[in-house]
Amino acid sequence: MKIWQMTPESPDQKMIEEAAKLLQRGELVAFPTETVYGLGGNGLSPESLLKIFAAKGRPVDNPLILHIADKEMLNDLVVSISPTAEQLMKAFWPGPLTLIMEKAAQVPLEATGGLQTVAIRMPEHSIALQLIRAAGLPIAAPSANLSGKPSPTVAKDVEEDLDDRIAGLIDGGNTQIGLESTVVDCTGALPMILRPGGITREMLEKVVGFVEVDPGLENEGMSPKAPGMKYTHYSPEAQVTILEDKDDLLEALEYAKKSQKKIAFFIPEDFLIQEPLGMNIRLIREGTASDWTPLGMNLYKNLREMDREKVVEIFIQAVPEKGLGVAIMNRMKKAAGHCFWKDRKKEELS
Ligand code: TXA
Ligand code: MG
Repeated sequence: MKIWQMTPESPDQKMIEEAAKLLQRGELVAFPTETVYGLGGNGLSPESLLKIFAAKGRPVDNPLILHIADKEMLNDLVVSISPTAEQLMKAFWPGPLTLIMEKAAQVPLEATGGLQTVAIRMPEHSIALQLIRAAGLPIAAPSANLSGKPSPTVAKDVEEDLDDRIAGLIDGGNTQIGLESTVVDCTGALPMILRPGGITREMLEKVVGFVEVDPGLENEGMSPKAPGMKYTHYSPEAQVTILEDKDDLLEALEYAKKSQKKIAFFIPEDFLIQEPLGMNIRLIREGTASDWTPLGMNLYKNLREMDREKVVEIFIQAVPEKGLGVAIMNRMKKAAGHCFWKDRKKEELS
């Protein structure tokens, strides 16, 4: 795999053109976006699209996002643009918002997992935008991880997962948001959030009024409308358990102190706890009780780091489910397979 290094402040046009050539030839190139690294391929070529699924080990019924650099590209990919979609694009593109619209005939079914709708996003990242422009193509790009692993937010994580499976990787440093884009379905009467992300429900509602949230996201009996949300994504090797309050934390710390296992705790910087803790305990401090942005930004990176350190259990302090907290908790619950400390205690007692 060829690796190009550059910064978002000064993207190297020559290197980007080299990468774009690979994309035009049907090869796969991973690149940074403002959310997570994407695994790019020609979004209009069935062969390239199938290569993406193969490289990731991704089920072919899980549709991809087409990344565009300008609105002209969009016109060729969808049948029509609803007024709601138009308003959302105006407010949030380029940015971490993916819109689902009815697909045009030229969009291959390989991109949409057989659906008649297509997911489209204009990323807010200089390298991503220049790469799409240089290729002159919509770039299909799922997160650049092996299916089932946390999304990569640094180039090293892409390398770890995909090194011998893809042609190239543009290393553009850390991604800023660290969580995948918000996915909004614009094909119904009301816009509906299918995946929470960096653009929050509150932000969307300021622009278009009421926005629905896919009921399948919260009800375990219902299947989510975004095929990707039904898979146990984002799971590290370690068992993840969510702590809901300070009592949970103190109890889990007691449990960890008595254990021989290597156990990690992800807690806010301003949570005071009695130290030192046992040698088997690893503390990751991110964010504060009032600003949990850094927790979201580094969540995947930290989960992956814990795997490297062979941590066997991870406890994560929950954040309030408002604003960006909705997206963070959504990923956290997936990483934990919905395992909460309180449920574990109940099980042990019964
Ligand atoms: O931030 C992001 O969105 C990143 C970067 C690289 O842009 N990409 C990303 O792609 O997260 P991926 O493939 O990992 O997630 C795409 C999500 C999946 O949950 C998929 O099921 C959903 O979007 N999706 C795609 N097309 C859809 C469609 N037509 N209808 C419903 N859901 C769709
Ligand atoms: Mg993904």
